Amino acid sequence: MNDQRTVLVTGATGNVGPHAAAELLAAGAQVRALVLADDPNLDRLPAGVQLCTGDLADPDSLDAALDGVDGVFWMWPFFSLSTATAPAVLKKLEQRVHRVALVSSVGVHIGLEPVDNNCHAYLEHLLERSTLAWTFLRTTGFMANALGFAAQTRDGGRVVRFPYGDAARTSVHEADLAAVGVRALLADGHEYQSYLVSGPELLTQREQVHIIGEVIGRPLEWQDVHAEEARRQMVATGWPPSYADGALDYFATLTKEPEVGSTVVAEVTGRPARTFRQWAQEHAAAFD
Ligand SMILES: NC(=O)c1ccc[n+]([C@@H]2O[C@H](COP(=O)([O-])OP(=O)(O)OC[C@H]3O[C@@H](n4cnc5c(N)ncnc54)[C@H](OP(=O)(O)O)[C@@H]3O)[C@@H](O)[C@H]2O)c1
Repeated sequence: MNDQRTVLVTGATGNVGPHAAAELLAAGAQVRALVLADDPNLDRLPAGVQLCTGDLADPDSLDAALDGVDGVFWMWPFFSLSTATAPAVLKKLEQRVHRVALVSSVGVHIGLEPVDNNCHAYLEHLLERSTLAWTFLRTTGFMANALGFAAQTRDGGRVVRFPYGDAARTSVHEADLAAVGVRALLADGHEYQSYLVSGPELLTQREQVHIIGEVIGRPLEWQDVHAEEARRQMVATGWPPSYADGALDYFATLTKEPEVGSTVVAEVTGRPARTFRQWAQEHAAAFD
């Protein structure tokens, strides 16, 4: 791997960004993290990362962060930001950067996301028409999505209520997704590849919750509730309604047809993909 590169990580303090930063540092790269001026989660980033203030909603604010950068680990915070400024951000990248690894979604891989929406498919579409050497990381759901159940298990809770307990997923550990993206940016041979990035196993949502119960030493029960009840709560906690609908519809299909998976993590990183049990052990405190 070329370890002399400088890489900018956007969405740096979310679920994936800190892992990407750590993986880049371990590979010897210079790491910049794009952060908002009032980011409350800077302590998630490892020491050695250079903080660069900038806002994806204001492309001109990115100039300093992009100066001298070779590659970008590109994530777009779709929940809180429209893609209206994405074309202008891409122009900035084209002027300064050669390589981009985009965190995209399994939804594109299986044709669920139309290009004309405010989503990953649109960013892929822009990159395909750019001068940049891109890699698409079409990821399945994050294991970290299970943190959404933590409020129900903390303080002795024993029941997790959510729709579609039988939805079978190939959730990925955020560190594995980050590791694939870092290889794509620092090693040759990953340009213009669309990778389906998944975890190593197929588990239903109910099975994930049972594993969390085993890890915290308190059996947890799954209770299916109507999708409409969950939708109301998801929207109340910040999910754009169309995203909540898309996710719930997708979970419904996964009760009949399990989610697709791949061996990309092991192939690209040379390490076995982490299991959900490993993830649960690392995050046990959040559920207890
Ligand atoms: N969760 C899943 O299952 C899943 C599945 C497929 C794809 N993905 C994709 O994975 C990517 C990463 O997700 P994630 O959960 O790690 O992070 P995320 O929730 O998408 O992004 C959060 C990060 O973006 C920053 N941010 C917010 N608005 C910004 C702005 N205007 N300019 C610059 N930074 C801004 C946040 O900073 P503050 O903390 O300061 O707000 C935070 O660091 C996303 O693109 C998501 O769509 C997720």
